[in-house]
Amino acid sequence: MILSGKARLAGVVGWPISHSKSPRLHGYWLEQLAIDGAYLPLAIAPESFDLALRGLMAAGFQGVNVTVPHKEAALRFCDEIDPLARRIGAVNTLVFKDDKAWGSNTDAFGFIENLRQNTEKLDFSRSSCVVLGAGGAARGVIAALQDAGVPEIFLLNRTRSRAEALAEDLSPDNSKDVTGKITDNITGKITVLPWEERSRSLDRADLLVNTTSLGMAGQAPLELDLAALPRDAVVTDIVYAPLITPLLALAEKNGNPIVDGLGMLLHQARPGFEAWFGQRPAVTEELRKFVLAS
Ligand code: ATR
Repeated sequence: MILSGKARLAGVVGWPISHSKSPRLHGYWLEQLAIDGAYLPLAIAPESFDLALRGLMAAGFQGVNVTVPHKEAALRFCDEIDPLARRIGAVNTLVFKDDKAWGSNTDAFGFIENLRQNTEKLDFSRSSCVVLGAGGAARGVIAALQDAGVPEIFLLNRTRSRAEALAEDLSPDNSKDVTGKITDNITGKITVLPWEERSRSLDRADLLVNTTSLGMAGQAPLELDLAALPRDAVVTDIVYAPLITPLLALAEKNGNPIVDGLGMLLHQARPGFEAWFGQRPAVTEELRKFVLAS
């Protein structure tokens, strides 16, 4: 990579950052599209977040991605925030423009885009969804499903109170985002069910999403019996290491269509790249292999 004096700069801010796949992913697109630009891994400690971001703005960066543990701090840092990011309560993409930081959350876009591109007949407006887990990732997934127009979401989490808090925050009934601002046109009624009923809760599902960390390399697998799940229901996991989690392997054996989590990571990166570097990147099979090889 050889940069000119006019090179556009962006990066990913996290703590730690060495595990991040984003520099490799954006680096691939920069090279493919022959762009005069760079995307850097930026290890920033939580107490330095605001100072570092001000510095990047002053240095002329186009913007940054923000990852663990900064997604809530980024929401507070922004001058302008996309309504979806407000509703989720986290910002993962910042664009610096006119001395202002514009924040959005592209995890929701990545999640839906990955499903849209890898399923044939999932009609969100008629889909009943079961979501397992109620952490930060689940917030993005549920807001995305609501935006896509799903009528109902069943939410199950080991710690029930966390699922209830999420259901309250994202309830279409009170139509309030996490900052208290009123928003409208939200569908997707959220019903919290006991974690112990997860296998039984699948009998009417069109889509099953695992947002827990269970099944990730080094973690216990998710214990789930898929006997009640309709054969044409789509099963997806946001875990992508391993690519085929024990849940996806079981679903595949059962004959259900499956969508792995890598596509979500790749698609969520697209809006930021386009905003910073001015070109639209593509998610291809070659890119998937390249990112997986790291
Ligand atoms: P993320 O931002 O990736 O969602 P998180 O906020 O730490 O990460 O959430 C992790 C999710 O995995 C939670 O839903 C968590 O359940 P709890 O809220 O009960 O902690 C779930 N999870 C992690 N380990 C689990 C386990 N052993 N059994 C069941 N759920 C688990």
